[in-house]
Amino acid sequence: MQITLARGDITAQEVDAVVNAANSALLGGGGVDGAIHRRGGPTILAECRDLRATQYADGLPPGQAVATTAGDLPARWVIHTVGPVYSASQDRSALLASCYVESLRVAADLGATTVAFPAISTGVYRWPMADAARIAVRAVRSSQVGAELTEVRFVLFSEDAHAAFATALAEIAAR
Ligand code: APR
Repeated sequence: MQITLARGDITAQEVDAVVNAANSALLGGGGVDGAIHRRGGPTILAECRDLRATQYADGLPPGQAVATTAGDLPARWVIHTVGPVYSASQDRSALLASCYVESLRVAADLGATTVAFPAISTGVYRWPMADAARIAVRAVRSSQVGAELTEVRFVLFSEDAHAAFATALAEIAAR
C-alpha cells in the first residue's frame, strides 16, 4: 500500500473512496463535509438520512466510519467518519487514529483500491496539525487492512498541512 500526499480539494480526487470529516449527525456541515455534500449532491444526504433512520439512530460515534454513495463526485463512495474534537486535557489520539483505521476497514470491505483522506479533526475540531498528521500517518502505516488497497492519499488543503504530513511521513520512513 502506497501512502501519497496531494495539495488540493478532496472532492476532486479520482479515487474509489473519499473520506468525509463528518459530525455524528451525518447531516452535513462546513469544511470537508460541506464541500462533499455541495459537490456530491443530494443522493449522499439521502443515504445519510437512511443510515440515521436505521443503523445510527443516535448518530455515528466518533472514531467510527460508514459508507454511502459518492453521488456526483468522481469517486465511487464517500466514507463518513467522525473525528474527535481536540482536547488539551484529555488524550483523544486513539479516537483520531480509529477514524483512519475504521475508514480503511470500510474501504477494504467495499473492495476499494484507492482512498483519499482529509486531515481529520484539524479544522473546526481544532486538532493541532503536526500532531494530527503524525497520528494519521502512523495509523495508516500500521493498519493491517487488506492488500487490495494500493494507494492511501492524504489530500491537504493548505501548504502548512502538506508540510506537516510530509514531515510525519519522513519521520516514520526514518524509523
Ligand atoms: N478538501 C480537502 N481538505 C479540506 C477541504 C477540502 N475541500 N475543506 C477543508 N479542508 C481541510 C481543512 O483545512 C482542515 O485542515 O480539512 C481539514 C478538516 O477540517 P474540517 O472540514 O473543519 O473537519 P474537522 O476539523 O474534522 O471538523 C468536523 O466540521 O464541517 C464540520 O460537519 C463537520 O461538524 C463537523 C466538523
